[in-house]
Amino acid sequence: MQIRFTETVLRDANQSLIATRMPFEKMEKILPALDKAGYGSLECWGGATFDSCLRYLGEDPWERLRKIRAACPNTKLQMLLRGQNLLGYKHYPDDAVELFVKKSVENGVDVLRIFDALNDLRNVETATRAALAAGAEVQGTICYTMSPIHNLASFVETAKGWKALGAQTICIKDMAGIMSPKQAYEIVKAVKEAVKLPVSVHTHATTGLAFMTYLKAAEAGADVIDTAISCFSGGTAQPATETLNYVLREYGFDTGLDAAVLKEINDFFKVYRAECLADGLLNPIVMATDTDALTYQIPGGMLSNLVAQLTAQGKLDRLDDVLREVPNVRKDLGYPPLVTPMSQMVGVQATANVLFGRYKNISKEIKAYVKGEYGRAPGEISEELKKMILGDGQPLTGRFADTLAPIVETARKELGDLAKSDEDVLSYIAFPTLAQAFFEAREEKRKKTVKYTIVATEE
Ligand code: CO
Repeated sequence: MQIRFTETVLRDANQSLIATRMPFEKMEKILPALDKAGYGSLECWGGATFDSCLRYLGEDPWERLRKIRAACPNTKLQMLLRGQNLLGYKHYPDDAVELFVKKSVENGVDVLRIFDALNDLRNVETATRAALAAGAEVQGTICYTMSPIHNLASFVETAKGWKALGAQTICIKDMAGIMSPKQAYEIVKAVKEAVKLPVSVHTHATTGLAFMTYLKAAEAGADVIDTAISCFSGGTAQPATETLNYVLREYGFDTGLDAAVLKEINDFFKVYRAECLADGLLNPIVMATDTDALTYQIPGGMLSNLVAQLTAQGKLDRLDDVLREVPNVRKDLGYPPLVTPMSQMVGVQATANVLFGRYKNISKEIKAYVKGEYGRAPGEISEELKKMILGDGQPLTGRFADTLAPIVETARKELGDLAKSDEDVLSYIAFPTLAQAFFEAREEKRKKTVKYTIVATEE
């Protein structure tokens, strides 16, 4: 019996516990150890890392990827890609998706875990085709959620859809930590039986289910589980790598992991965790078990975002009201799984509903969703909300990306000399304002360096 681990400390644990603020310099020295620990893959890119590099860390996300690649030549590098949304929050035209995927693979990504927040596979076709053409592994993702319209049969249908698109592996992605051991067992069995592909299981420790969920998933034949090195594990992140390694080995699984190297990795990150706790970046509240998520279905990142948003507005006392409103908004929208960007959209709308009155302020993203611009809603959108947003109009039924004009050459022209590469153009397409500011700062720095060099030579 064999099972492999995907380590999430660089991406999901980083994102869930400390809002993706880990700079490259804080991971650099431990990369060689991560490379020799025996992981099935390192989840290290995509998700919010790209945004955070540009927005908060002054890092070029592509350069980060290349550096990780160089330091980890023996381990598969994995990224999380939001299908037609890439790493942003809206749909991009196909030419941007194709180039983005191609460049991700060229810069070092081996495995693309691709998902669509609505499990609408029309939104992952382009990214999947591009990834397969670039020679990467496509991990087709089923966003797990509980609702009156999501069940074993609907998950199996999504898995079959992925197989038809050419996915080599399937991920059952539980971004909220609400998948119970029993459900995991049944879904892994059913999906493996139906598509005969290796299955990864992804969950969060938020509700305390995760260790049990992984154990039952492993019993059901899961091929890979996602875990985080222990000092960055638990709460809204993944459960601990070392603990699951210990348990699964005892049951006779070959995990491929070297416990001594795991200890070295953990000792390293303990120092950084202490810094994060000291400067408030790591809030102990997100590390605790919170069973409210079983009712509210709040994913790790979403809960910490809501806490941060409400704290900034001085309204943290309304957190319970907002958490109560989330399921109502979700029902009105036809039960979208709460994963990026839907989790943000639902969170922002639920907050607005609580602070200003129900649907008194409707975000433009929610309007676009109701118009069909994010894809097919899993269930029925409330008639009242449709009426409010569409009036007598009709929602879009086709693929939204088909309505978008190509963007890559336009962006290249707009950037002119500021862009030094295709990667720069892609950063700009994904986050125009942030990328432009980043390029300008880079240019300034370069000029200063040049000036300094000249002065130094003269002296
Ligand atoms: Co996650």
